[in-house]
Formats: sequence, structure tokens, C-alpha cells
Amino acid sequence: MAKNKTKLTARNADKHVLYQESVQAPKDDAEFFAHYYKKHTGKPLRVFREDFCGTAVLSCEFARRHRDNHSIGVDLHGPTLDWAREHNVSQLKPAEQKRVSLVQGNVLEVKEPQAELIVGLNFSYSVFKTRSDFGAYMKNAFNALKPGGLFTLDAWGGGQAQFLMKERRKVSSFTYVWHQADFDPITHDILCKIHFEFKDGSKMKNAFIYDWRLWTLPEMRELMDEAGFRDIHVLWEGTDKKTGEGNGEFTRVERGDDEEAWIAYVIGQRPT
Ligand SMILES: C[S@@+](CC[C@H](N)C(=O)[O-])C[C@H]1O[C@@H](n2cnc3c(N)ncnc32)[C@H](O)[C@@H]1O
Repeated sequence: MAKNKTKLTARNADKHVLYQESVQAPKDDAEFFAHYYKKHTGKPLRVFREDFCGTAVLSCEFARRHRDNHSIGVDLHGPTLDWAREHNVSQLKPAEQKRVSLVQGNVLEVKEPQAELIVGLNFSYSVFKTRSDFGAYMKNAFNALKPGGLFTLDAWGGGQAQFLMKERRKVSSFTYVWHQADFDPITHDILCKIHFEFKDGSKMKNAFIYDWRLWTLPEMRELMDEAGFRDIHVLWEGTDKKTGEGNGEFTRVERGDDEEAWIAYVIGQRPT
């Protein structure tokens, strides 16, 4: 007898599962970072730190990839880390689980163990609203890296980043809604929200709310330089010619394109 599959609705959905399905690609990201680190430093990446790790799905994937891989996930929020343990870490084999450390702490303070690569993804560093806080974060990341290690942040921008808008995208059996609810050109304060909509018409409004500052690439590069990083460079996402959307391929460039919406990585190296 066929099982009656429960339909996903706002009442029964888990916002962390929806988030992971909508905005994360842990296999691709883990592969990309391992590959880029090897290409850039000549060494295999074995100690990976994910700042603002949330559900730590990327940390788990990195530990799974190789028996010498260790991940450190750092996040302030205890309940999200509990969710990470229950839903993601628990999916790993026992030996893999031992190679994932989840630290409940502030990324401004956690320094140990030193990592070879530190990433802060999905623009989470945007919670820092002043140069002094963002600079302090970068300085702490610098100290939390082994000499020769890489620090990577993603960045977004283009004219569209400064419009108030809602963008809907279908993801399996639900719709992901990215909502830019407020933007102040003077401070670059930006209020973003994630909502989810379901086939039965139900909605999960304000599943995630981000009170951020929209940082620019020159500011990020200057702050990295002040924190001591060297060989600071930008990887720019290419464009799919057919769709006009990002194609997920990142290339080191000296200048970007004046696109309506772009994504990039900013990378700095702690000198050896
Ligand atoms: C946008 S989520 C990012 C989730 C995941 N890293 C990703 O790439 O999608 C931001 C996370 O940052 C955490 N966070 C915010 N400020 C923090 C801080 N100062 N130190 C550590 N974690 C912080 C929040 O608890 C939240 O889980």
C-alpha cells in the first residue's frame, strides 16, 4: 500500500530544513573550498572553521569528505547548534562525528584551535555594523588561522542589492522568498527577511530576519588589509549566458562587472 506522504505546510515544516534546501549547497561548497585551498597553498585542507555555522551542514560535509578532515563550527546560538547536532552531526558515522567540533561562542572571541581555512558565509558578517566591529572580527580570524591559512567571506552587491524587493524561487515543494524590506543609503543598514510559502497556500513569514549592514568590496578589502591579511583577492562569479543568472563558477579577477546583482568571494592569507 502506498504511504500517504504528509504534505509540507507552514505548520509542519522545519525552518532550518527549508533554509538548508534553499540557500546551502554543502557538497559543492566543501569541494570548492578544498580545491581552492590546495590550488592556492599547495597543501590539502584538513582543518576547516565555519564561522556563523548555524546548522553546521557545511562543517559536517567537510568532515565526511576525508578521514583526516576536522571541522570547527562557531555560532552564538545554542538552540541552532542543538538542531545541528540532532539533525546533521547525527547523520555522520561515529568516527566522522568525532571530527566535528561545534563551539557555542562569539566569532569575535573564539581563537582555538587554529584553522587552515576560516569561512564566513551567506553574508553573516553583515551583523557587524561598524568598521571597528568588523575589523575586530577580521583580526580575530587572523589570529585564529595557522600561518599561511586563508580567510574567506562571501559578498553581494549591485544595484539590485539596494532596492526594496521580494524575489521568489521555487525549491522542491515550497517557495523561498528573499525580501529586502528596508535599505538606508546613508548607513547601508539593510533589513532582509526570508519567508517560505507552501502549495496549500500557507506561509511561514519572517522565518529569518537579518538586521545587517551592506558592506562593499573596497571596505572589506581595506579591513582585511588592516587586520594583517596579504594577497587579498576577489573571486567573481561567472554568468550563465542562457539564464543571465550566476553560474556558480568563481574566478580570480582584478576588476568586476557592473552587474545588477553579483556574488563574489573575498579572500586574504595570513602570512607564513
Ligand atoms: C545567516 S545565518 C548563517 C548560517 C550558515 N552559516 C549559512 O551559511 O547559511 C547567521 C548565523 O550567525 C550567528 N551569529 C550571529 N552573530 C554571531 C557572532 N557574533 N558569533 C557567532 N555567531 C553569530 C547566528 O546565530 C546565525 O546562526
